[in-house]
Amino acid sequence: MQTKTQKTPAPKLQEAWTPESWRGREARQMPVYPDAAKLGVAEEKLAKLPPLVFAGEARKLQASLARVAAGEAFLLQGGDCAESFAEFSANNIRDTLRVILQMAVVLTFAGSMPVIKVGRIAGQFAKPRSKPEETRDGITLPAYRGDIINGIDFTPEARNPQPERMVDAYHQAAATLNLVRAFVKGGYADLHQVNRWNLDFVKDSPLSERYTDIAHRITEALAFMEACGITSDRVDALRETDFFTSHEALLLNYEQALTRVDSTTGDWYDTSAHFLWIGARTGQLDGAQIEFARGIRNPIGVKVGPDLDADTLLRIIERINPDNIAGRLTLISRMGVGEVGKKLQPILRAVTQSGANVVWSCDPMHGNTVSSDAGVKTRRFNDVLGEVQGFFDACRNEGVHPGGMHVEMTGQQVTECTGGQHDLTDADLALCYQTHCDPRLNANQALEMAFLIAEKIKEGKRLA
Ligand code: PEP
Ligand code: CO
Repeated sequence: MQTKTQKTPAPKLQEAWTPESWRGREARQMPVYPDAAKLGVAEEKLAKLPPLVFAGEARKLQASLARVAAGEAFLLQGGDCAESFAEFSANNIRDTLRVILQMAVVLTFAGSMPVIKVGRIAGQFAKPRSKPEETRDGITLPAYRGDIINGIDFTPEARNPQPERMVDAYHQAAATLNLVRAFVKGGYADLHQVNRWNLDFVKDSPLSERYTDIAHRITEALAFMEACGITSDRVDALRETDFFTSHEALLLNYEQALTRVDSTTGDWYDTSAHFLWIGARTGQLDGAQIEFARGIRNPIGVKVGPDLDADTLLRIIERINPDNIAGRLTLISRMGVGEVGKKLQPILRAVTQSGANVVWSCDPMHGNTVSSDAGVKTRRFNDVLGEVQGFFDACRNEGVHPGGMHVEMTGQQVTECTGGQHDLTDADLALCYQTHCDPRLNANQALEMAFLIAEKIKEGKRLA
């Protein structure tokens, strides 16, 4: 019990935050725009455009993530590595969405737990790069950094950073979000449609049988509920779902311009997405991206790679979530299959011992990028699954809830990652390699992974 003599802790001192206070910090991975006047015009234009998401929605997501932190729900975050202007189409959006819905059904069914769905979508345009430049046939140009910054063509014009691209990206994000909202609230996500989410090309695979089995069982359960009077016109949750957006908070000119005060609370929210994360290359404690993230009230993710030491991570946690609010912070482990076994557990332990309330999620993609013999960037499906396994093992050993998965996937039948049920080989990579940045799981591989994670969740429940 608190006695009168006990001192109340001193208030935590922190320098004042403003939406532009990041400008005083080192900003890695951001372009230097050659034309400052054009940049100013684009920023002003963006600042006048309507918010893409509402603060109340971000709070709803945070409340859902608090349930994940408490071990009562699972987070599924997935989508493109980089959205592009060229691949923008209703079919692409629908197909990505339906694979996420399918994965969520598999996970919900297995874990008997709500699955919080967050897309890497409607704003995932800016990419950190390992090298600032690219050389081809003796010619060196700035690296491609995502369509919101420059163009992918290997010409000096395309590679020049163009601020107007931020405005184009905003409009694409707005149109994408509009369609996503229509899909998830307008009947497409109705659980009665669960059979129709199966993509045609998945239908030929053995996975399809497993999925169809779940779909049948859900349909039966719905029929039973209907007989009891529980119908989709009465129960919203059967007819529609919540789907949130996210992207890496990398290009801070864009993020700042969309950061607004929420009139109901007076707090700042970055209205470009519900959830923003800090990438592994921009997670410096005193860097611009962390500075920006600490002041916005959206739920925040931080990638945790093999080079991040526990002390620095604890300081980052303190900086972003000084009040230890549940659901505010998601740590996304991306160690690589070779490192996860030794690096993750000590970090889990240090964070748990510090008392920090966080969600632990696993990104089994970014630590597992390799080059094929022909020099094509790829990921081995077995490495991806190996990291998932390592994540679940480490969490179990430390008594931590394995709270989520963060994947790069697409609803298209691409051949970018090798392995999986169709046993794609390096030679297959050329068949349909479309990504603008990192190799993504195709729909088959994503669904296969969902089944594997479902097994892990079930196993965890049995052991609990
Ligand atoms: C990403 O998620 O797109 C990414 C670049 O990840 P990381 O920062 O973990 O490398
Ligand atoms: Co990526």
